[in-house]
Amino acid sequence: MTQDELKQKVALAAIHYIKDVSIVGVGTGSTVKHFIDYLGDIKGDIEGAVSSSEVSTAHLKKVGIPVFDLNAVGTLDIYVDGADEVSPHKHLIKGGGAALTREKIIAAASKKFVCIVDESKCVDVLGKFPLPVEVIPMARSYVARELVKLGGQPVWRENCITDNHNAILDVYNFNIIDPIKLEQIINNITGVVTVGLFAMRPADVVLIGKGTEVITL
Ligand code: A5P
Repeated sequence: MTQDELKQKVALAAIHYIKDVSIVGVGTGSTVKHFIDYLGDIKGDIEGAVSSSEVSTAHLKKVGIPVFDLNAVGTLDIYVDGADEVSPHKHLIKGGGAALTREKIIAAASKKFVCIVDESKCVDVLGKFPLPVEVIPMARSYVARELVKLGGQPVWRENCITDNHNAILDVYNFNIIDPIKLEQIINNITGVVTVGLFAMRPADVVLIGKGTEVITL
């Protein structure tokens, strides 16, 4: 199976979690793109979605799913999203697609977070994938210097402006042994909007496309 076929398979598996759910939290990325296509097939069973990015919003609308403001719908029963890295503790690195802030908000506001990945995303220790940090543009250099003090090597993702009009620093060189602590430390740097570590609020279920199977973590 190709990597894209694995993404398709886990996306389909996530559809089985959409039972008696009226509004679905929807993430961003190439795996979620497949999920939105499958969600389109069962759109009669749901009222609509809350979206984590302009890209996903456009795709949801294209398949005929109404998109709601999170403020108008309250707590969500379920949030489905991909990840860039997944640890055995269901801690994640996210933000490769620059949508980390809205993704983290929806994860926080959801009862169940179902993460869908192909097996290439699974690691023992987070940190090979550069850790995305969304920053207020004027704080970019200051935050970068603070991240260097923590042992990271931040690189500005040039030509990338997030949906919230901010900048992204991708931080190389972190061997993330204690993800919860690092998430708290980076969150506390002035000028940081969001760090792409999802450890304080990890996934509840991870569906992994591996070979011909889907494994549930
Ligand atoms: C978007 O900002 C990310 O958090 C995505 O969830 C992550 O990059 C996974 O994307 P793919 O499904 O394209 O691998």
